[in-house]
Amino acid sequence: MIVMAQVIPPTSTGNIGLEPLARKAANCTACGLATNRTNVVFGIGDPRADLMFVGEGPGREEDIAGEPFVGKSGKLLDRLMQQELGIVRSQCYIANVVKCRPPNNRNPFEEEISACRPFLEAQIREIDPAVIVTLGNFATRLLLDTTEGIKKVRGRSYRYAIQAGTATARIAAGRMPEKITHLVPTFHPAAALRGGPSVVTEMRADFARAKLLLAQPILQGSDTHPGQRPATPG
Ligand code: URA
Repeated sequence: MIVMAQVIPPTSTGNIGLEPLARKAANCTACGLATNRTNVVFGIGDPRADLMFVGEGPGREEDIAGEPFVGKSGKLLDRLMQQELGIVRSQCYIANVVKCRPPNNRNPFEEEISACRPFLEAQIREIDPAVIVTLGNFATRLLLDTTEGIKKVRGRSYRYAIQAGTATARIAAGRMPEKITHLVPTFHPAAALRGGPSVVTEMRADFARAKLLLAQPILQGSDTHPGQRPATPG
């Protein structure tokens, strides 16, 4: 049974810093996932990274280690990161949509995603990356605010607006975002482990897209148009 508590956004005014945010998450009981966790898997990496990966949620190994993507999926992520981007995990930041392990590795429920969402959005604001790579359907749907599946939306990049009080894919009419971040959706590494070489090849292409975007100058809010979410060239 999911026990819902009142969800208090981790920060309602401005940024509080990653460390205090992690401490807040460590004590979070906003959804039923708190009941069975060993560790809250908040995130890992460079708090000032230009590149941020967002996965779905911790599995058994991550729950035990307290670190995202340390199992088989993580090994593939590390390999692709190294081969396509020339970096190791300490040179980027890795987080998940939900910070606590769903039992038996089931998909996270809507209410769990909603309860945890303020933490992810606050992490994005704190880290302020130039490029976000979403791994799989859950991260992609949440951050792109879409119900489309990963197969349909991957293969190009999107613009993701980090506002002062919110981080959202939708640029609200009349509100000028502070900065536009690129969002590159790709498959979850677990899907690549199941799907084989063709999925890995598509992930490699998406990572290469992220690398190109990392080399581009950062777009400021004035370079975009409120109310629109134009694509950047694939
Ligand atoms: N899968 C995820 O989505 N995140 C992890 O941290 C591990 C596996």
